[in-house]
Amino acid sequence: MTAVLVTRRLPEPALAPLAGYELRLPSGENGFTAAELLDAAPGVEAILCVLSDQITAAVIAAAPRLRVVGNIAVGYDNIDVAAAEAAGVVVVNTPGILDEATADLAFMLILAAARGCGDAERDLRAGGWTGWSLNGYLGRDVHGATLGLVGYGRIARAVARRASGFDMTVLHHTRTDTGMPGYVPDLDELLTRADIISVHVPYTAATHHLIGARELALLGPEAVLVNTARGAVVDEAALAAALHENRLFGAGLDVYANEPSVHPGLLSAPRTVLLPHIGSATARTRMRMARVAAEGVAAVLANRAHDATRVTAVDPPAGSRRESPAKLTDDQEPREAR
Ligand code: GLV
Repeated sequence: MTAVLVTRRLPEPALAPLAGYELRLPSGENGFTAAELLDAAPGVEAILCVLSDQITAAVIAAAPRLRVVGNIAVGYDNIDVAAAEAAGVVVVNTPGILDEATADLAFMLILAAARGCGDAERDLRAGGWTGWSLNGYLGRDVHGATLGLVGYGRIARAVARRASGFDMTVLHHTRTDTGMPGYVPDLDELLTRADIISVHVPYTAATHHLIGARELALLGPEAVLVNTARGAVVDEAALAAALHENRLFGAGLDVYANEPSVHPGLLSAPRTVLLPHIGSATARTRMRMARVAAEGVAAVLANRAHDATRVTAVDPPAGSRRESPAKLTDDQEPREAR
């Protein structure tokens, strides 16, 4: 029977598309360790995983029957996509499902960081609030401010829609010209003009530490930085130093370079709101993400890779060791990619 390694316990409705396959699940709630993943890889045709599972070249090499990896996430920097492609393994993900939930959270971080909500709430809970004060807990205005979006994919555009309701001027930067209003070709110029920066680029070699000490200096002491994309797009040590030395007004972070550890300098940084990677964490969105990733895995296993939202550029080449011997039936004819 075709075996699918499911690295986390998922709700029943999410697994429905995989009915009829043998599901290999972890014994506990915390999924597989890297070593357990390697041990489990050899017998499976599919892996349904989450973004904290590292699907390395070694895992792919250890799984000669593997045909598809389904990532319950839109980002896929946890998967060695080049190794997957070379081995004829299809990688599917969940774009379009979590845009609005993540944009809600990004906008919440914009508001919370600009208005100093983290420090203010901690102070109140600790009994440090001595009463209303004209000069107490002063933040930065969000309404009417200039928002700079680094990256302009679906999530960034969803943040831009929210910003328009706050009368913000919205600028964006991407490497290639979007041709859309607010496009700023030069990242440095975007950083210089924006009051608030929100990061929305995938993590790749090209975006590693895209926002470092030099970029933070361009932002200046009144600016706020929000990151709901991937932690290592920002140089966390440089960010922590800028916050501690009052060279940046505040930061709102949902992602970290070495999750679940958080740079100690950020944990102690002032005017910083820190969340545990919950951008897409609403019950409805997470259920839909799991379901869509499971559907993508099922589609590839049924030779309907064109029905899945694929990360990999190519389908397994005909005759590759990943090709299913099963014949296509009429309802399994490949269709246009979504
Ligand atoms: C969340 O970070 C995702 O990539 O889905």
